[in-house]
Amino acid sequence: MSRPRVVITEPLDPAAVAWLAERFEVVQPPAGDDAALADALALADALIVRTYTRVDSALLERAPRLRVVGRAGVGLDNIDERACAARGVAVVHTPDANTHAVTEFVWSLIFSVVRPLEPIATALTERDWRSLRDSSLAPRELAGMTLGVLGLGRIGRSVARVGVTLMGRAIYHDIRDIPAAERVGAEPVGFEELLAESDVITIHVDGRASNRGLIGAAACDLMKPDVIFINASRGFVVDRPALASFLTRNCAAVALLDVHDPEPIPAEDPLLSTANARLYPHLAAATAPAKRAMSGVVEAVWFTLTETTSRNSRGC
Ligand code: 3PG
Repeated sequence: MSRPRVVITEPLDPAAVAWLAERFEVVQPPAGDDAALADALALADALIVRTYTRVDSALLERAPRLRVVGRAGVGLDNIDERACAARGVAVVHTPDANTHAVTEFVWSLIFSVVRPLEPIATALTERDWRSLRDSSLAPRELAGMTLGVLGLGRIGRSVARVGVTLMGRAIYHDIRDIPAAERVGAEPVGFEELLAESDVITIHVDGRASNRGLIGAAACDLMKPDVIFINASRGFVVDRPALASFLTRNCAAVALLDVHDPEPIPAEDPLLSTANARLYPHLAAATAPAKRAMSGVVEAVWFTLTETTSRNSRGC
């Protein structure tokens, strides 16, 4: 009997791929080669993706044998879960795999604004040394500022916990009622209050369709003129022309955006030419430990395929 086939469309940790290849046939079509992808999908029992493979009805049509989709990562917005369910295709992912990596990334962005650091490259005269120290005075400290976390899920909570320690006050807004024990010291507030009161705003909502354009012109106009605004959730949550207009009118504000819509960022994106917008190429989860943990989805895929194979062989 031939081994089940698993198709992998985006880079995973090599050790995870090797582990899977000991158990199943693993096919990795070259990126951008649609004919190779079509051939691979035609006999695929499982598919493993990250951010950039859209698993929709059109793809599922091309994979008639598919039984499980593994998302190596947290977000499921690139996977049409309803279409998968309608075809009996299970969806598994790694919801906690990059919480630490994203938390560290968000805080490194905040520190890069509040305490920007440039190491010394050459010997300095006493005068230059003094003048460098004088010109390096940071205008603000985090202590005493308010952190606003939009979305208090796993990552939002982890970011908020650090905020409570460093800043003293963290507030959050979430569409869910978060039990007091899970608030990590952050206070619940309304959406508008969060925007108006936060010195640092960080977005950690999920990729549900209703979050598209959540930060539009009206939301931007509520933010402080010197806000530090961070988005490491999904690009479509932010209306980019509206944010660009806000940043242009408020030159003391700074936006640090790790996610974009679309990715890569097209040349006409207004934020590319906005001086106080700092853009990063979707790097929040990019640590080796997080990549290993996200690649751990191979185990859930193995388990699901093994289960369905034995169920089918028992005629269930
Ligand atoms: C996620 O949803 O887990 C993140 O966006 C990470 O995605 P990546 O593996 O494509 O960086």
